[in-house]
Amino acid sequence: MNNIHLLDLIQGASGALDYVNSTVTGHHRRVGAGAAAIGGAMGLEGRDAADLVTAALLHDIGAFSLDLRLDGLDFEADHGDHARAGFRLLSVHPMLSRVAPLVLHHHTPWHRLPPLSDPGPGQADTPAAALLANIINLADRVDVLDQVGTRRVVRERIRQIISHNAGTVFAREAAEAFLDLSAGSEFWDKLSGDWTHVREAVDLPMADDLISHDQLLPFSRFFALIIDFRSRHTATHSLGVAETSARLAALAGMPPESQDRLRLAGNLHDIGKLAVPVTLLDKPGPLTQEEFEAVRLHAAASESILRSVPGLDDIADWASQHHERPDGSGYPHGLKRDALSLGSRIVGVCDVFTAITEDRPYRPGMTPDQSARVLRDMVGQGSLDADLVALLLDNHAEVAEARREAQARAHVEFERYRSLRVDGAAHAA
Ligand SMILES: [Fe+2]
Ligand SMILES: [Fe+2]
Ligand SMILES: [Fe+2]
Repeated sequence: MNNIHLLDLIQGASGALDYVNSTVTGHHRRVGAGAAAIGGAMGLEGRDAADLVTAALLHDIGAFSLDLRLDGLDFEADHGDHARAGFRLLSVHPMLSRVAPLVLHHHTPWHRLPPLSDPGPGQADTPAAALLANIINLADRVDVLDQVGTRRVVRERIRQIISHNAGTVFAREAAEAFLDLSAGSEFWDKLSGDWTHVREAVDLPMADDLISHDQLLPFSRFFALIIDFRSRHTATHSLGVAETSARLAALAGMPPESQDRLRLAGNLHDIGKLAVPVTLLDKPGPLTQEEFEAVRLHAAASESILRSVPGLDDIADWASQHHERPDGSGYPHGLKRDALSLGSRIVGVCDVFTAITEDRPYRPGMTPDQSARVLRDMVGQGSLDADLVALLLDNHAEVAEARREAQARAHVEFERYRSLRVDGAAHAA
């Protein structure tokens, strides 16, 4: 497979998060670039600089659900909930848990920051962690004042606000670095470009770090959970699609590496649903035509998010074509069977299979007989690949068991996420 840069992946993830709050498009990228510039001016390097940028690019990850919407405009608002949710999400990730405390405290004023206790081996520690969290806080406030809302606060006013809060809300050292940088226009230019890469905005020691294939899987699982947890209707859907796709790929004779990459594609196929309001995902009744169009947009959004990460091309195809149909009646591009690769057709079949057989809060999953009938009907209508459906039905029990087992495991993860204690939360308020 192609090499994938860790920074590209995190940047792609941060772009996906920006879909959730379209009013602040580019917010994560700008906070990443701003924090990196401030940290650079303070002489941060190596692991600290990498942690700073990683956490800044993902800092509002906890604001992905409806009840945790961003209160971007309010300078003084208590942002504790989305910060705590972000902490909980990140703390279970093998590579990202070290930056979880930075996300937890990205709205905590400097003078109220607890000495961040060392949460465990390999994770962020003090006092650097507190300072890193505070740099993100500063970069975030600067971007919110600069970008959000109809009234643009002039930059001199932003500088006054930061200066006024130096030593209280913001660490004096960080505020001074910002005030030095922001006196000229160069700093602001770095933030105000369209989607320029953080890599180009700042000199970053992690810019050349590669991510291995093995490390990619936890990333995709992590995003599957974020995608799925937004809607109680489909809380484990992506993981079911991932596992059944890998199983069907094995049955179709694809090599183990391809099976693994189909697992990635399954985990990420609905990543574009981050752009769909939860009210639509959870709507009990039938959708209006307009709402239906809004939901359909998720496939194109999946495509653009995944295409933004160099090295994920096959996965971008397989994931984003899951609503294409062999007869050309699907979306986003209306591709016909000849234009769809085996991987894309597999995810298409497994998405339907998982959707009709999984239990949802408003109805139980279909029995094997019922689901076989629906799949055959769809083949008859030209909506699903005939060969793959036949292969699945020949191995119905095995594929069904793979789905059930994967979703049962994901359900445990969902419960664990909901019940995780937030270390230090009492200090964060
Ligand atoms: Fe935030
Ligand atoms: Fe933010
Ligand atoms: Fe979908």
